[in-house]
Amino acid sequence: MSENGMLKVNEAGHLVIAGCDAVLLAHKYGTPLYVYDEGFIRERCREYIAEFGRRYPSVEIAYAGKAALTTGLARLMAQEGMGLDVASAGELYTALQADFPPDRIKLHGNYKSNLEYRMALEAGVGRVVVDSLIEMRQLDGWARKFGSVAHILIRVRPGIDTHTHELIQTGQVDSKFGLGIYGGEARRAIEMATDCEGLRLRGVHCHIGSQLLETDAFERAIDQMVDFIADMRDELGFECEDLDLGGGLGIRYTERDAPPTVAELAEAICPRLTRALQRRGLSQPRLILEPGRSIVGEAGITIYTVGVVKEIPDLRTYVSVDGGMSDNPRPALYDAEYEAVVANRAEEPPTQWVRVVGKHCEADTLIEEAHIAQAEPGDLLAVFGTGAYNQAMASNYNRFPRPAVVLCRDGRDELLVERESLADLTAHDRIPQHLAMAEADERTRAAQG
Ligand code: LLP
Repeated sequence: MSENGMLKVNEAGHLVIAGCDAVLLAHKYGTPLYVYDEGFIRERCREYIAEFGRRYPSVEIAYAGKAALTTGLARLMAQEGMGLDVASAGELYTALQADFPPDRIKLHGNYKSNLEYRMALEAGVGRVVVDSLIEMRQLDGWARKFGSVAHILIRVRPGIDTHTHELIQTGQVDSKFGLGIYGGEARRAIEMATDCEGLRLRGVHCHIGSQLLETDAFERAIDQMVDFIADMRDELGFECEDLDLGGGLGIRYTERDAPPTVAELAEAICPRLTRALQRRGLSQPRLILEPGRSIVGEAGITIYTVGVVKEIPDLRTYVSVDGGMSDNPRPALYDAEYEAVVANRAEEPPTQWVRVVGKHCEADTLIEEAHIAQAEPGDLLAVFGTGAYNQAMASNYNRFPRPAVVLCRDGRDELLVERESLADLTAHDRIPQHLAMAEADERTRAAQG
C-alpha cells in the first residue's frame, strides 16, 4: 500500500478507502456510489469534542444533520456522544428512527410547520432554535396545548459578512434567518420569551456561514454575541445558559483550500470567548457548535464509471460519468470545485486536464478542469470530498435513481442506504383516473366502429 497525501493505493493500483478497494466496492454495489470512511468521521467527532473540551469548561458538539443524515449516520453520531441538529420533520424523523437521544436533538428552521412543532414537542427534543417572533408565538401555543415546555434558543442575526459563496452566507444583515441585533428584534424576542408560559429561554444562537476558510468571522461573531448577551443581562436580566455559534468550518475540496484545523478553530474561539465574557463580567455559558461539512465532507468520495470520452480537437476533452448534478448539485449551484482520480489506476500520475461531466441533459459539469490520468470508457473515477451536501441534496432529475451509500471501516463495507431502483421512481406516481377513463372510452368508441 502506498500513500500520497489523502490518496491510498493498493498493490493492484486501486484507490483504497478505509481499507476497502474502491474497484471492488464499485463492482459489488454499482456506480455511482457514495462511500464513507467511518474512522474519519469518528475521528473528526472526537477531535471536536477533545479540542474544544480542552479549552472551554462546558461544550456540546452537535452534528448538523443537513450535511448528510441517514439512520446509520445518526447512530454513529449518537455513539460518539454528539448532539444532533435537525432542520425538518424528515431529519427529525430520521434521528428518532435511529433512536437518537431526543434531549440531544436541536430543531432548526426559519419556517417550522405544525407537524415539526408537534413532533419536536412529542419527542421532547432538547432545544428548539426559534427564528422569528411568529414562530415564538406558535411554539408557545403548541407547548401550552401539549402541557409541556419547549426549551429554546433564539437565533440571532449578528450582521456579519463572510468570505464564502453568497448562497451559503447566513449571518449578514440581509438574511432570512434569525432575529436582528440591530433594529431590536432579537431584544424583543428575549423580552417576549419571558412572558411565554410554554417556553423556557436557554440561550442564543448564531450561524454565520458555511465553508469558512478563515476564523476571523467567528471571532467577530463572538464579540457581537457576547456584547448582546451582556446588554440583555443588563437591560432585561437575561441569563444565558447556552451560547451556540453554529457550524461553518470549511474543508479541503482542492489543493488550493487550506481550512483551519479543528484545533485551530478551537484556539481561535475558546480563549477569545473566555476573554470577551470576562470583559463583560459574564459567567461561561455552555458553548455549542454545529459542524456539518467538517465532520463528514472529507470522509466521503463518489465513485463513477466513465462512459464516453470525447475529444474536441484543440479545445478540450470531455469525460462523461454515470452520475452528475442529481448526485452532486454543488458545482451547478455554487461553482464548487472538486478533485478526482482514476480509481482503478490510482498510481498513474495525472497526464491530462479534462472536463468531467455528468449524464444529465444540460452542461452538467462536475469538474471544470480535472487533472487526471488517461481515462477510458469503463474506468472508474473517484471524486473526493463529497461527503457533505451531496447525497443530502441528491435528486431524481432525469429520473435517475439515487445512488447507494456505503460505510467502510478497516476493510469492511456495509450499506447505509440502498440504491434506489427504477421501480422506486414510479412507486409514488399515479395515473389520474380521467386519463385512464379517456383511453377506455376511446377503446369503446373504436370497438363500436
Ligand atoms: N447550523 C446551521 C444553523 C446551519 O444553517 C448550518 C448550515 C450548519 C449548522 C452547518 O454548517 P457547516 O458546518 O456544514 O458549514 N448546501 C450548502 C451548504 C448550506 C449550509 C447551510 N447551513 C453547500 O453545499 O455548500
